[in-house]
Amino acid sequence: MTLAAAQSQEILKPHLSIDGGHPLNGVLKVSGAKNSALVLMTASLLTDEPVELTNVPELTDISGMSDILSSLGVSVERSGKRVRLQAAKLSSAEPPYELVNSLRASFFSIGSLLGRLGHARVPLPGGCRIGARPVVEHIRGLKALGAVVNVEHGIVSAAVPGHVKRLRGASIVLDCPSVGATETILMAAVLADGISTIENAAQEPEVQDLANLLNQMGARISGAGGPVITIEGVKRLHGCRNYPVIPDRIEAGTFLIAAAITRSTLRVEPVIPDHLNVVLQKLRDCGCKLEIDDQGITIKPGTISAVDLTTQPFPGFPTDLQAPFMALMATAYGTSVISEKIYENRMQHVGELQRMGASIRLDGSTAIIEGVPRLSGAPVTGSDLRASAAMVLAALAADGKTQVSGLKHLDRGYDGIEAKLIGVGANVQRFKG
Ligand code: EPZ
Repeated sequence: MTLAAAQSQEILKPHLSIDGGHPLNGVLKVSGAKNSALVLMTASLLTDEPVELTNVPELTDISGMSDILSSLGVSVERSGKRVRLQAAKLSSAEPPYELVNSLRASFFSIGSLLGRLGHARVPLPGGCRIGARPVVEHIRGLKALGAVVNVEHGIVSAAVPGHVKRLRGASIVLDCPSVGATETILMAAVLADGISTIENAAQEPEVQDLANLLNQMGARISGAGGPVITIEGVKRLHGCRNYPVIPDRIEAGTFLIAAAITRSTLRVEPVIPDHLNVVLQKLRDCGCKLEIDDQGITIKPGTISAVDLTTQPFPGFPTDLQAPFMALMATAYGTSVISEKIYENRMQHVGELQRMGASIRLDGSTAIIEGVPRLSGAPVTGSDLRASAAMVLAALAADGKTQVSGLKHLDRGYDGIEAKLIGVGANVQRFKG
């Protein structure tokens, strides 16, 4: 097939066509956090009363989670950014494979189903392009709480033995600070009999958001956001009204990088600065001035210089901003080294950036990026949610037109991204293919 034919095929796929090189100006609004909203929705399984969430982003993943919960008998009413969930009576404890497989966060419902019903059968979430993503820590935690857990034929079956149907408190030490495992164990432990502790817990803001919601529902959790979380089991949880999902720190970081890569002064709001401290420091280190107030951040990029980074669990540099930050480093002065330590295969955006003229050498999961003056537009594909975002950022700064395919990934995690970018002057068009 000729290059032209291949490129024309690329252009036939659903894609964003971005004419790069224009400075941006104005305010980028940040939606509610995808990775918080999804797990907060599964917490509704823990009570028969209504749980109302606000500031929920409008994403395909949220629709997917709504379908999964509905398949269990949860009533889900969505209007704009408000979602009302009620698990008055559950009709099943086994979410369907085809839905779970595409939405990893739905696996975490095994904790809330076990806590509420004393049994659950949840399909193993597949690995994905960025790594194997095992759930060993989730299973170890549930076993420590007294559940009998079997994994066969791709299904994780968990049940509380005997007629008691109630888990018992336990001390759990995680091998790695897994976000999902911490959230799964939290939701299982809140209704257990006795006190549980989770050591080496994930400290991400989304874990804190879940603990805050559970406490509003009557749980007794302390220490969330730190390395040791204590949960005093209670007999039941009640509902919650108008619980606001925290702003999406990864979307906020992506938008701050959009300003930096196009050398534009932009306002990004709302942002909780403490959710992004290491990212904000990296942006300062590479040449951006930040004006931070309690509503948001105004970023003023100067000359962008190369800085090194290594992804780490929170509060370290988040793996979900590794690809977007690499797009920025592709046009920085000097050579930067970016190491991905969380996932074993999260460098697939390197090849696509190279197609746009980036000069990057890859050594396993370490990329050495030699900044170039300008990237050039080309047809590219995002291989996962954050790689797709990185390609959009690169396209905003590149000379000429870029077609970014892989929109099914992008639409999972960025609520109305092209409308937001057009709102600050970007030249973006969506083609449905
Ligand atoms: C959450 O995934 C996020 N997803 C991910 O965001 C994010 O990248 C990740 O946390 C890390 O911050 C949601 O919250 C829905 P982990 P999760 O368990 O919970 C290893 C995005 O783009 N691990 O903290 O699945 C695992 O292999 C997505 O929004 C074990 O070894 O992440 C990985 O290397 C991508 N054993 C590392 O820990 C386990 O039992 C982090 O995984 C569990 C995890």
